[in-house]
Amino acid sequence: MAISTTRTKEKATITIDSDKCTGCGKCISVCKDFNFLIKNNKVILSNDPVFGCIGCGHCMAICPADAIEISGRELSKEDLFDLPPIEQRASYEQLYALYSRRRSVREFLDKEIAPEIIEKILDATSTSPMGISPSDVNLLIMDSKEKTRRFAADFCVYLKSMLWFVSGWFLTLMRPFWGKTNDEMFKGFVKPLFNVYINNMNEGINLVNYDAPLAIYFYGSPYCDPADPIVAATTAMYAAESLGLGTCMLGGVHPLIQKGRKARKFRTDHGIRYPSREGLFVIFGYPAVRYRKGIRRTFASTTMMN
Ligand SMILES: Cc1cc2nc3c(=O)[nH]c(=O)nc-3n(C[C@H](O)[C@H](O)[C@H](O)COP(=O)(O)O)c2cc1C
Ligand code: SF4
Ligand code: SF4
Repeated sequence: MAISTTRTKEKATITIDSDKCTGCGKCISVCKDFNFLIKNNKVILSNDPVFGCIGCGHCMAICPADAIEISGRELSKEDLFDLPPIEQRASYEQLYALYSRRRSVREFLDKEIAPEIIEKILDATSTSPMGISPSDVNLLIMDSKEKTRRFAADFCVYLKSMLWFVSGWFLTLMRPFWGKTNDEMFKGFVKPLFNVYINNMNEGINLVNYDAPLAIYFYGSPYCDPADPIVAATTAMYAAESLGLGTCMLGGVHPLIQKGRKARKFRTDHGIRYPSREGLFVIFGYPAVRYRKGIRRTFASTTMMN
C-alpha cells in the first residue's frame, strides 16, 4: 500500500526508457524506496520497494540520460526545471547576513504588499523540504491589514467564549491529568495571553497579528509530518526578509484553534481545512522600525555525542 496523504493514496508510476539508459546507477543511489536494480547494464524495476514510489522525483532529476519519468502523486516530468547557475547560489556570508539582520518585526508601515511580492514568497516557499511528497502543508493567506484585523477580532470573540478553559477551577481540575509543565504553561502563559489578546482588542489594539498587511497560516493535515508547516513557515520568513520585508512568527493562535466544536467552527468559518498537530502564523510587512544592533542568541544545549 502506498503512503497516504490528503492529496493522494496511490504510489507513483515509474517509466524507464531502456534505449536511453546507460546503466550509470545514479537513480539507484538516490532512490531510498529501492525501486531500481541493474540488469544487463540497464536499470530495471526491482520487486521489493519499501512503500511503492513516493514521487520524490529524485531519480528523474538526477538521470543524465533523461531516461526516467515519474507520474502520479501530483508529480510529472513537467515539474522538472533547469537549476539556477551555481554561481547564483547564496554564499554563507550572504545567508549569515540575512539571518543575523533579522529581528521579529511587529510594527509595520501602512503599505500593502504587492501581489507579485506575495507570489515570490510563495514560489520560494514551495521549494521547502517535506516529510513525504507531495507536501500536505496548507496555507491560509490574509493579504491585507483589513483581513488580518478581521481574523484577529474574530479570534478574540472566539477566545472570550473559551475563557472557562483558563479559569481557576478548570486549571485546578486538570493539574493532576496534564502535569506540572502544562500547569505552569497554562498559568504563566496561556491565561495571561487570553487576557492580553482580549483586553487589548477591546481597546482597539490588535496584539494577535498586529494589523500586518500580510499574514500566512501554515498548517498540515492529519497525515502531515507535524514539522512540515514549520519548515515551510521558516522558508517563507527568510524569503520575505530577502525581499526587504519585516516578519514575525506567531505561535499564539494555532494551538487554541485545534480541539473542540467551537474550534472546528472557527476553522470552518475562516477557510482552515484541517486540524493540525503543528501550525504557525507568519506576519509580513514593510518595517516601521529599524534595529541598530544584532542580538547574539544561544541554544539551550549543544551536546556532542561520544
Ligand atoms: C514559534 C514562534 C512563535 C512565536 N509566537 C509569537 C507570538 O505569538 N507573538 C509575538 O509577538 N511574537 C511571537 N514570536 C516571536 C518571538 O517572540 C521572537 O522570536 C522573540 O521575541 C525573539 O526576537 P527575534 O526574533 O528578533 O530574535 C514567535 C516566534 C517563534 C519562533
Ligand atoms: S540514472 Fe538514468 S541512465 Fe543512469 S541508470 Fe538510472 S535510468 Fe539509467
Ligand atoms: S520518484 Fe523517488 S521514490 Fe520514486 S523511484 Fe524515483 S527516487 Fe524512487
